[in-house]
Amino acid sequence: TKDWNGIDQVLLRTPRGASARVSLHGGQVISWRNESGEEMLFMSSKAIFKPPKAMRGGIPICFPQFGNCGSLEQHGFVRNKIWTVDDNPPHLHLNDSKGKSSIDLILKPSEEDLKYWPHSYEFRLRVSLTTDGDLIMISRIRNISGKPFSFLFAYHTYLSVSDISEVRIEGLETLDYLDNLSQRERFTEQGDAITFESEVDRVYLSSPNVIAVLDHEKKRTFVIRKEGLPDVVVWNPWEKKSKSMVDFGDEEYKQMLCVDGAAIERPITLKSGEEWKGQLELSVVPSSFCSEQLDSHWRG
Ligand code: BG6
Repeated sequence: TKDWNGIDQVLLRTPRGASARVSLHGGQVISWRNESGEEMLFMSSKAIFKPPKAMRGGIPICFPQFGNCGSLEQHGFVRNKIWTVDDNPPHLHLNDSKGKSSIDLILKPSEEDLKYWPHSYEFRLRVSLTTDGDLIMISRIRNISGKPFSFLFAYHTYLSVSDISEVRIEGLETLDYLDNLSQRERFTEQGDAITFESEVDRVYLSSPNVIAVLDHEKKRTFVIRKEGLPDVVVWNPWEKKSKSMVDFGDEEYKQMLCVDGAAIERPITLKSGEEWKGQLELSVVPSSFCSEQLDSHWRG
């Protein structure tokens, strides 16, 4: 299908009715629904579906820069590019694709792109839905430039929540974080679990590979599993910043929370010919399931 600007979108579906929608604009996942058709990702009612800007919601990909620390545009440029479908993806093992619905996309820099970031790469993105409706994203970035280069990366994941004041994150307690609200100063998390009562813009460092976002009111928990992505960005703009964003409703901060699997503190360096892989897996479970059965994942 196409969006309002004629940009292709790919709809993935499982036999039991879960779905995901991926736009070729940015390779951005813009919707992920469970088997009852309920949306799991936040998308702003004011989102602008027009390049060169990422849609405000879903899962934009930040590469090769995160934030505005660097010479490139905020969060890098790949989220603003039109990707193509990769008809001949490598590494496609039969076992890998069994029972899964998936799409492979690819992005290579144009001559114009190379003026801003003079490093040639192949960025392959696979978005899959498992038969249970879990969303899996695998990014493979290969250096084909002849020289080493370094980059930062994030899956900027906008989760849909019932009410931000009813939400908590487990798995980040006691970690160090960089606070974007105070010049990236480093602090250590003291609380039991992370809850929200004002603007938050942090990068938690070297986190466990499984973290959970508990939505008390909806009685459901997002489980985020990641590989190759040591850090976790946590962002909610709260009241004041929401009003300053044109593509975001004044009250919408209550219904969203960004929790990103990311590589930010230590840039990833690839030698010529090398490939990096970063994987994110999102699933949703009832809250009761979580506290008993997932505890062991991050507490030992
Ligand atoms: C967060 C950054 O991850 O992304 C914030 O830490 C930023 O500072 C936010 O405001 C959204 O960025 P953008 O470019 O999509 O508006």
